[in-house]
Amino acid sequence: MSEKLWIFDTTLRDGEQVPGCQLNTQEKIIVAKALEELGVDIIEAGFPISSPGDFNSVMEISKAVSNPIICALSRAVEKDIEVAAASLRYAKKGRIHTGIGVSPYHIQYKLRTTPEDIIERAVKAVKYAKSFVEDVEFYAEDAGRAEHEFLAKIVEQAIKAGATVINIPDTTGYCLPEQYAAMVRFLKENVSNIDKAIISTHCHNDLGMATANTIAGVQHGARQVEVTINGIGERAGNTSMEEVVMAIKCHHDIPVHTNINTTKIYETSRLISKLMNMPVQPNKAIVGRNAFAHSSGIHQDGVLKHRENYEIIDPKEVGVHESSIVLTARSGRAALKHHLDALGVELAGEELKEVYESFLTLADSKRDIGPKDLLALVGKYIEDSSFIELVKVRYESNGLIKAEVELKVGDNFRKASSEGNGPVDAVLKAIEKIVKPQIVLEEFLIQAITAGSDDVCKVHMRLMQEEKPYYGFASDTDIVQASAQAFVDALNKIPVNKKVLL
Ligand code: KIV
Ligand code: ZN
Repeated sequence: MSEKLWIFDTTLRDGEQVPGCQLNTQEKIIVAKALEELGVDIIEAGFPISSPGDFNSVMEISKAVSNPIICALSRAVEKDIEVAAASLRYAKKGRIHTGIGVSPYHIQYKLRTTPEDIIERAVKAVKYAKSFVEDVEFYAEDAGRAEHEFLAKIVEQAIKAGATVINIPDTTGYCLPEQYAAMVRFLKENVSNIDKAIISTHCHNDLGMATANTIAGVQHGARQVEVTINGIGERAGNTSMEEVVMAIKCHHDIPVHTNINTTKIYETSRLISKLMNMPVQPNKAIVGRNAFAHSSGIHQDGVLKHRENYEIIDPKEVGVHESSIVLTARSGRAALKHHLDALGVELAGEELKEVYESFLTLADSKRDIGPKDLLALVGKYIEDSSFIELVKVRYESNGLIKAEVELKVGDNFRKASSEGNGPVDAVLKAIEKIVKPQIVLEEFLIQAITAGSDDVCKVHMRLMQEEKPYYGFASDTDIVQASAQAFVDALNKIPVNKKVLL
């Protein structure tokens, strides 16, 4: 069995710091519950000293969720730690995350002190946090630009003081994967008590390296990753959870597993995007609108032949219903045929070639090509292949509603009659007696398209057969006639060999 990789989600802390992404307590509870459902191990719920609202949110989240550890951030300052501890009083499992800057920049220009003082403050903070909770995580801020020897020294002292998780943030997103990996390795090899703590990654994305650095850290011994949904976070963001989780799932040689229910990734991503008012870029890995959309002809043909030709993840694994074959001017015939088949229009050879040419002309001028456009494009061929024709429709209602229908099926004329709950119901049932298509009528819309006593009504129908939709359209001044025609129109789109005829 591979080792467990702890998923530490900081969407509600580092993510929520982003301008415009602020949430109220109720919204944060919704997010926390979604993260719990997703299977995260630790939720960093806020920075309680920063505002009464943040304090309250950490407290309410602690009450609302049960499984994940609830973590509260603090600086290496007594007051911060006391407030963090107070905010965690209802947590079933609480963690204090405390730390201090360790790079020459932070020591000299931010904290304006000496390396010795930094170690002293770190030790004091960890010990103080430990007096409130057992679970204390120490962060060495800006570790990515720190001197390795100093980093090893402070980490050793923090573990000695009681920290059980050591976070080595690349706060400014400066590192390259090899450098980040080397830092983890250095700690593994040079900190005498490192086996008493879990090393955690916390990478920012300023150079677009956050996921690569995180994975490099894991490959060299880190066993906790600090991540956010959709990669939101300060500046260019934090490491995105979905990318790390799926990279690990795809690469079996990385010897760890996570507790994440990946099928909930997509819905969680949409929830965060909606609540935080933060759109997901269309080409975002795993959760972007185009992550499973294929638009070039070569790729579409490849995916239709065998999904794995162009996809490393089955979209269902992350909760996306299916890959999409987008119709654009670069689509090939295979893609067009795929969409037409779904509409019940089976074309091949010359017919397909001709429709493809008109499709390309249309695609050059129209961005979104949908079922209606396709049906309009192939209208001519559908009519040509009208295997079933409506010859006569008659209905009467004297107490009982009864309909009589005559169809021409191929070269044969057939008649049937049926009773029904209304004239339309009776007519459709009579048609079904002749053509036994084993369909489900899924959608039936009637729309008046002119006003006055000579109203023309338009009927739109969707039938399902073997999970494929078939659409029927018709208009007439007689609603029963229009319904019968739309039904026959849809039936005609079912491939002949799939209609079961008497
Ligand atoms: O990026 C960072 O260094 C942080 C710490 C506060 C953990 O977010
Ligand atoms: Zn951060």
